[in-house]
Amino acid sequence: IRMILIGPPGAGKGTQAPKIKERFSCCHLATGDMLRSQIAKKTDLGREAKKIMDQGGLVSDEIVIGMIKAELETNKECQGGFILDGFPRTVPQAEGLDAMLKERKQTLQHVVELQIDDALLVERITGRLVHPASGRSYHTTFNPPKKPMTDDVTGEPLIQRSDDNAEALKKRLVTYHKQTSPVVGYYQKTGLWKGIDASQQPGQVWKHMLNIIEGKN
Ligand code: AP5
Ligand code: ZN
Repeated sequence: IRMILIGPPGAGKGTQAPKIKERFSCCHLATGDMLRSQIAKKTDLGREAKKIMDQGGLVSDEIVIGMIKAELETNKECQGGFILDGFPRTVPQAEGLDAMLKERKQTLQHVVELQIDDALLVERITGRLVHPASGRSYHTTFNPPKKPMTDDVTGEPLIQRSDDNAEALKKRLVTYHKQTSPVVGYYQKTGLWKGIDASQQPGQVWKHMLNIIEGKN
């Protein structure tokens, strides 16, 4: 499978993508997760990226295009296809992806937008808990871990992302509407675009996702 998930912060990209990966044996490439791993490793890129991410801005197109290119070339899981989460986020990134795929003689199969009103996102974002090593996420109300602040699988502590506060979210949403909404238009023109109502329960969103991927919708 070769597909893209687009949606605002908290829409559920990181919740749905691992299910797609598991079901279709492809790689899950999330530029946000890759950048957070650079921050954890305290690299120069990580230090630069953290400032931008905490302010709700976007890291440069060249850097994220380079990260995706490197993963597609070296990550063995990508031989079974890919699900892109949080990339492309600008029209130049979408053009960069087109060029990469052309070189690989591949085409995209699905572009799915998770559609949801901004007003519903504050609660999702401020209640999110993540397990940094795996990228697994929970929610204090909507998807609580079995033990408070503890990852179900590893027993390791959960944390809150430093950009998961109401103030940074506001900026992330402004950035989304300004820079990423045009990407939706870009794919609508190609005929690949499909939308899902992402305000539904995660299980409902997943059902709709499968219908789209399997061509029933
Ligand atoms: P990134 O990590 O991509 O963050 P984001 O786009 O803001 O998206 P989120 O991870 O916040 O949301 P999600 O849709 O994954 O939601 P989730 O499933 O976890 O990017 C972070 C930053 O990195 C950017 O701001 C930017 O600075 C930089 N960056 C990244 N990519 C870049 C790029 N390509 N170019 C330039 N810069 C880039 O769900 C959220 C919460 O809601 C969870 O708690 C979950 O349990 C809960 N939830 C999920 N679905 C439901 C549901 N259906 N009902 C109820 N609760 C739900
Ligand atoms: Zn995410």
